[in-house]
Amino acid sequence: MRLYQEEYQQSVEDVESFWQRKSKDIDWFKQPESILSRDDNGIHRWFADGELNTCHLALDFHVANGRADVAALIYDSPLAETFTQFTYAEMLAEVEKLAGAIKALGVGKGDTVLIYMPMIPQAVFAMLACARLGAIHSVVFGGFAANELAVRIDDTEPKIILAASCGLEPNKVIEYKPMLDDALRISQFQPKHCVIFQRAQGLALLSAKRDLDWQDLVFNAKPTACVPVKATDPLYILYTSGTTGAPKGIIRDNGGHAVALKYSMQAIYNMQAGDVFLAASDVGWVVGHSYIVYAPLIHGCTTILYEGKPVGTPNTGAFWRVIEAYKVKAIFAAPTAFRAIRKQDPNAELAKVHDLSSLQTIFVAGERLDPPTYYWLNEKFKIPIVDHWWQTETGWAIAANMTGIELLPTKPGSSCVPTPGFNVEILDDKGKQLPIGEQGNIAIKLPLPPGCTPGIWRGFKRFKELYLTQFKNYYLSGDAGYFDDEGYLFVMGRVDDVINVAGHRLSTGRIEEIVGSHSAIAECAVVGVEDSLKGQVPTGFAILKDGVSISAADLNNEVVSLVRKEIGAIACFKHLHVVSRLPKTRSGKILRKVIRQVAQGESYAVPSTIDDPASLDDFIIMFL
Ligand code: COA
Ligand code: AMP
Repeated sequence: MRLYQEEYQQSVEDVESFWQRKSKDIDWFKQPESILSRDDNGIHRWFADGELNTCHLALDFHVANGRADVAALIYDSPLAETFTQFTYAEMLAEVEKLAGAIKALGVGKGDTVLIYMPMIPQAVFAMLACARLGAIHSVVFGGFAANELAVRIDDTEPKIILAASCGLEPNKVIEYKPMLDDALRISQFQPKHCVIFQRAQGLALLSAKRDLDWQDLVFNAKPTACVPVKATDPLYILYTSGTTGAPKGIIRDNGGHAVALKYSMQAIYNMQAGDVFLAASDVGWVVGHSYIVYAPLIHGCTTILYEGKPVGTPNTGAFWRVIEAYKVKAIFAAPTAFRAIRKQDPNAELAKVHDLSSLQTIFVAGERLDPPTYYWLNEKFKIPIVDHWWQTETGWAIAANMTGIELLPTKPGSSCVPTPGFNVEILDDKGKQLPIGEQGNIAIKLPLPPGCTPGIWRGFKRFKELYLTQFKNYYLSGDAGYFDDEGYLFVMGRVDDVINVAGHRLSTGRIEEIVGSHSAIAECAVVGVEDSLKGQVPTGFAILKDGVSISAADLNNEVVSLVRKEIGAIACFKHLHVVSRLPKTRSGKILRKVIRQVAQGESYAVPSTIDDPASLDDFIIMFL
C-alpha cells in the first residue's frame, strides 16, 4: 500500500499543493493562482481565478497537439445497426458547427440548455457545444417521462431544448417528441426553441415556430470558437433523486471538474491517451457525463458510445464483442449488467468466443458489487475487478482501487480505499467517529476535492441543509458503511429513502407521491425491496379510502401505469399491495425499514417507537 498511502497522505495533509500540481495537467487559458478559496456562501471553491474551456480540453487541445486523426468517439449501436467513429478533428468540426448553430439562436455564456437525447453521437456533440459557449447544459435521461422532464424544464428554465425524435429500446421505438410536447404543456416555463434531431427510426412532427430541424440548422451554421469561462462557472446541472419527491439539480463547475477527471483517468483507471474506454452507462447519468464524455476526451482516449443492452442486443456477448472489436482496455458498467449476463450465460461461454486480451480491468459502480457477482467476474475473467463508490454529487469516485498508482488486492464487498482528496470518516448519528468495523454514516471531511458539487441549482439553502448541516465541517454522503482494519471501505446502502434500481438512483418519496395521487388510495408507503437482477425494485403498500370498491388487480394495474406515465418505465414499479394498516411511530412516521424487512422475508425487531404493535401484525397478515 506504500505508493497509494503516500499519494493519499499528501492529498489530505497538503491539500492545496497536491491539487496545484494536478491542475498543471490541463491546458488552462489562465493558470489559477488561487487554488482553494470560499465563495460568498462559504463553500469551498477550486481554482477560482483560473480560466479555461472544457470543450477546448476535450477537443481543440488534442487537434492542436497532433491527435487530430485519433478516434475520439466510437458509436456502436446494435439497436440502430450503426457502427461509426469520429476522429478528434471530425468531432471538433461537428461541435464547432453545432455551437455556432445554437449561438445563432441566442445561446451564450451562462445560459441553460436542456438536452433530452438517447445514446447517439449528437448527444455528446450537444454537451460539448454548450461547454464551448460557456452555456450550462442539463441532460435529462431519455427514460424519464413527460412529468419528470417538465419538472426539470421549470427548474433550469432553458433558453433552448436540444432533443432527438426518438430513442431505441429492444423491439420498440421510444418517441421522444410527443413526450417533450407533453412536458412543455405541463411546464410553466417555455423555451425559445426546441431543436430536434430527426432519427430515421422515428421521425418527429415539428410544430411551426418553436421547433427547428437540427440537421438544417447545423447545415447552415458557422463554426464558433471556445469561450473562456471561470473555473467556478457551471458546466452542467444534473438532476438526481433525494429523499423528497423534488429532484436536486447538482451543479458541476468547469475547472475542478476537468482537473479531477483528468487525474482520475490516470490514477484510478490507469488509462493513457490513445487507450480505448468503454463506460456502458447512459449520457443521462453522472457516469455517462464523467466517463463516456468528459474524462476520456479530456485525457485523449477513445470513448465508446454503446447504444444497446448488456443482454438481448442481440445476446449476452454484446460487451465482449465490443471489447474485441475496438480493443477496449477498461470497461465500466453497473453490477446489474453483469448479473444479467451471468444469469443468462453462467459459464460466460460467449466471452470465450471473443479475444479479450486488450481488457485489463473491469470497473463497476452505481450500486454495491455483490460478492457473488464479484466472485463470478473474478473467476471468469481473471483480471482485476474494481468496485468503486461514487455519487452524482461527487462526479468521480470517493473510494476506489487506484490502479494507476498501485493496484491493491481486492476484497469482495468493498469499494477499496478512499480516493486521494476524499477524507472519509465513519460517524455515528451525533457525529462521533466510530471505531474500525462499526457501521455508521459515511461522511467526508471538508473540503471536498475538485470535481465535487458546490451546490444545488437555485437551492443553496437546501444544499446546506441536506449535506452540510448534520455534521459540522463534513459532507454527509447519505450512505452507510464501515472501514475494516486494513482501511478498506465497505459501503452497505443508503441511510435515506433513496433506492437503486438497476444502477438508477430513484426516490421512493417521489414514487409514493404518485401512488398516493390515485383516487382510491388514502395512504401509502413505497420501499425498495431486494431483487436478484436489479439490486432493488420499488414495492408499494396502500390503504384504500373508505367505501372505495376496486379489485387489488385493477388497482395494481392502474397504479403501475400511473408510475410509468409520471416517472417512466425505468422506475420498474410492478407491485402494489393493499393493506389495512401501515406500522408507524408514535410521531406518525411510517416504519419503512420494518416494512422492507417484512417484504424481504427478513427477521426484524419491533421498534420501541412503534405507536401500536398490533398495526404491524395487521400489516404482516395482509401482506402475506
Ligand atoms: N429510454 C426509455 N425507456 C427506457 C430506457 C431509456 N433510455 N431505459 C430503460 N427503459 C425502459 C425499458 O424499455 C423497460 O421498459 P418496459 O418495462 O416497458 O420493458 C424499463 O425501462 C426497464 O428497463 P431496464 O432497466 O433496461 O430493464 P430490463 O429488465 O429490460 O434490463 C438490465 C435489465 C439489467 C439488462 C438493464 O437494467 C441494464 O442494462 N441495466 C444497466 C443500467 C446501467 O447502466 N445503469 C448504470 C447507470 S450508471
Ligand atoms: P448516483 O448518484 O446515481 O451515482 O447514485 C449514487 C448512489 O449509488 C450512492 O450514494 C450509493 O448509494 C450507490 N452507489 C454507487 N456506487 C456504489 C458502490 N460502488 N457501492 C455501493 N453503493 C454505490
